[in-house]
Amino acid sequence: MASQADRHALYEQAVQDPERDVRFFSRVYRRLRGRDALRLREDFCGTAALCHAWAQSMPERTAVGVDLCQETMDWGTRRWIEPAGEEVASRIALVHGDVREPRGPKADLACGLNFSYNCFKTRAELREYFEAARAGLDKEGLFFIDLLGGMESMIEGVTDNDQGDFIYRWEQARFNARTHELLCYIHFVFPDGSEIRRAYTYDWRLWTAPELRELLLEAGFSKVHFYWEKTDREGDGTGVFYEPSFVENQEIWWTYMAAEA
Ligand SMILES: C[S@@+](CC[C@H](N)C(=O)[O-])C[C@H]1O[C@@H](n2cnc3c(N)ncnc32)[C@H](O)[C@@H]1O
Repeated sequence: MASQADRHALYEQAVQDPERDVRFFSRVYRRLRGRDALRLREDFCGTAALCHAWAQSMPERTAVGVDLCQETMDWGTRRWIEPAGEEVASRIALVHGDVREPRGPKADLACGLNFSYNCFKTRAELREYFEAARAGLDKEGLFFIDLLGGMESMIEGVTDNDQGDFIYRWEQARFNARTHELLCYIHFVFPDGSEIRRAYTYDWRLWTAPELRELLLEAGFSKVHFYWEKTDREGDGTGVFYEPSFVENQEIWWTYMAAEA
């Protein structure tokens, strides 16, 4: 089963929910700016699933995806962009390049998701990326990142998520308390016992919420919002986010921040 499987398809199924991201970003932009965001830039776009969901969400919307890996973007072109038809495809551009090089056209909304900015391990590198993200935004633009935290984000361990036809296994192989460097792997495990080991490797520095806020402000953003998802009585996420002033820490959590250009 592992030899027949496609790691990008498994990743998208297990990790991403681009329609949810589009809904959340659109709602926040509308609340803060009183109009619809139309131009998206997706940094670290990978298979560009979000670019595709964005372009599908409104006929006026355009998307630019930026990634260093041409093979992953080619996969996304075959999976998402070509099947969407010429009209949708004409509103999506994928750029092979480094997210630290600002490029036009200016976006209403930019994002760097799946904690990808954690690949920048020094303040100077991360600030350079945030500066580039801001330079590529319209003056009313918003920049979204997601962040990972909680007690268990800073220890070694393995978490299995049953996806029905396979297990998505998240391994935190090594956390260095001195540097906050975190080495992680994604493995996929199948019912017949076969595996795709280390389908993806992440060599990160785990940045914390206050560090990210300070670096976004140092990079020139005027205001930073920290969002938290409301939960229901069972403690499950509701998809509704608010801006808390205090958050009690938990075992593991992820959430979004948005920075105003
Ligand atoms: C974790 S994936 C993110 C995929 C997708 N955006 C998501 O939210 O699931 C990280 C991607 O970042 C790309 N990448 C890493 N460093 C980069 C850089 N400096 N500039 C552009 N892309 C980079 C990798 O090629 C990879 O496709």
